[in-house]
Amino acid sequence: MTRPVLLPALMLLTVACGKGDGDAADSAEPGGASAEDAAAAEALWTEISGYDSWNQHADWTGVKASADGTHGPYVQIWYNDSADAGFTAAGDSLDDGSILVKEGYDDESGASVRAITVMKKTGGDWFWARYSEDGSVATAGAAAVDSCAGCHAAGKDSIRFISW
Ligand code: HEC
Repeated sequence: MTRPVLLPALMLLTVACGKGDGDAADSAEPGGASAEDAAAAEALWTEISGYDSWNQHADWTGVKASADGTHGPYVQIWYNDSADAGFTAAGDSLDDGSILVKEGYDDESGASVRAITVMKKTGGDWFWARYSEDGSVATAGAAAVDSCAGCHAAGKDSIRFISW
C-alpha cells in the first residue's frame, strides 16, 4: 500500500512592494481638497489643456532626471507665456496667470505618468494641484499647500527647476 506523500504547504508570502523612491511627500499630502479647491482644480485642468505644446526651458527640454524624485525620478516641465515673460524679465516674481506644469514619470522613457503637478499664480500667491494622468484631482489648494509650498519655498518665487 502506497502512502500519500504529504508535502508541506508552502506559504508564499507576498512582500508588500514599498516604493521607497521619494514618493513620501505624496503620501503625506492630505488628499481631501475642499469642494471649492477641487472645483478650482478642475477648472485649472481645463485651462492647461494642450500644455504639452507650451514653452520649455532650454536647460529643461524634454524628459529630465528630477532633482529629488518627489513626483517620479524623471520629469518634464512646461510653462505658459506669462511665466515665460517673467523668466526673461528682471523681476523677482511671476505675474498672476503664470502656470507651470510638471509631469513625473517612472522612468526616462516618459511612458508612464505618475503624477501631473501644476502651480498657478493667482491673487499674488500660488495655487497648487496634483492630478492623475486622466485629470482626476488628487489634491489641491489648501489641502496641498503645506506640502507643496513648504518644499518649493526653497526656490525663487517658489520655482524650483530654475532661477532667473
Ligand atoms: C519635497 C520637495 C517637493 C514637494 C513636496 C513638491 N515639489 Fe514640486 N518640485 C520640486 C523640485 C525639486 C522641482 C524641480 C523639478 C524636479 O527636479 O523634479 C519641482 C518642480 C515643480 C514644478 C515645475 C516648476 C518648478 O517650480 O520648478 C511644479 C509645477 C511643481 N513642482 C508642482 C508641485 C506641486 C503641485 C506639489 C504638491 C502637490 C509639489 N510640487 C510638491 C520639489 C517638490
